[in-house]
Amino acid sequence: MEPAFWHRKWADNQIGFHQAQANPYLQRYWPGLGLAAGSRVLVPLCGKSLDLAWLAGQGYRVRGIELSRRAVEDFFQEQGLQAQVSHQGAFEVWRSGDVELWCGDFFALRAEDVADCVGLYDRAALIALPPQMRSGYMRLLSQLLPAGSGLLVTLDYQQERLAGPPFSVVDDEVRRGFAGWRVEEVEAQDVIGDSPKFLQAGVERLVERVYRVQF
Ligand SMILES: C[S@@+](CC[C@H](N)C(=O)[O-])C[C@H]1O[C@@H](n2cnc3c(N)ncnc32)[C@H](O)[C@@H]1O
Repeated sequence: MEPAFWHRKWADNQIGFHQAQANPYLQRYWPGLGLAAGSRVLVPLCGKSLDLAWLAGQGYRVRGIELSRRAVEDFFQEQGLQAQVSHQGAFEVWRSGDVELWCGDFFALRAEDVADCVGLYDRAALIALPPQMRSGYMRLLSQLLPAGSGLLVTLDYQQERLAGPPFSVVDDEVRRGFAGWRVEEVEAQDVIGDSPKFLQAGVERLVERVYRVQF
């Protein structure tokens, strides 16, 4: 998707992906990663997710990457936080306490920008991207991140029934994209019953998959 697509979504408040609470999979599986408090966690394509605040609340230092300044502003405002703004490479960095949101294009990240990120959390980031961008996304993470671990949440459904985003990402694509990583499925749930938009489109199964990754 082009940046303009996402800027328009945020401007029109079409943010159905945003969750009113921290993600249940994050809460269930993050503690099992065993990452020490104080570790830095990278959250690509983070929106204004409450997951950022949840991770900070668990004692982690969080670095979100987000294209939309509107999303970044909203996050700090809705959290009641005053952010300091600075610059790092191609990014505008908004920082308050243990949360930094880097406003800019994920694909502009350099190795030094994530050299301290030993945690990774991806919910609705990989699946927000069309196929050709997904391979670039997985390649960049594989190339840039130091050793660490994280969680990835994907969706798998009949793509021909509905255009993304969110896009369907099958298990095989995840394993091929992160070929150098240890990728372990920890949960898979068919959530079609809770997804009227997909039901109306004739989608028969909508599988949310949660992976623990080690890189
Ligand atoms: C589907 S939303 C998911 C947001 C968040 N992960 C959540 O769970 O609420 C995808 C987000 O990625 C952002 N985005 C899309 N392309 C991006 C890029 N190339 N670099 C940084 N952010 C991007 C969009 O603005 C949008 O906020």
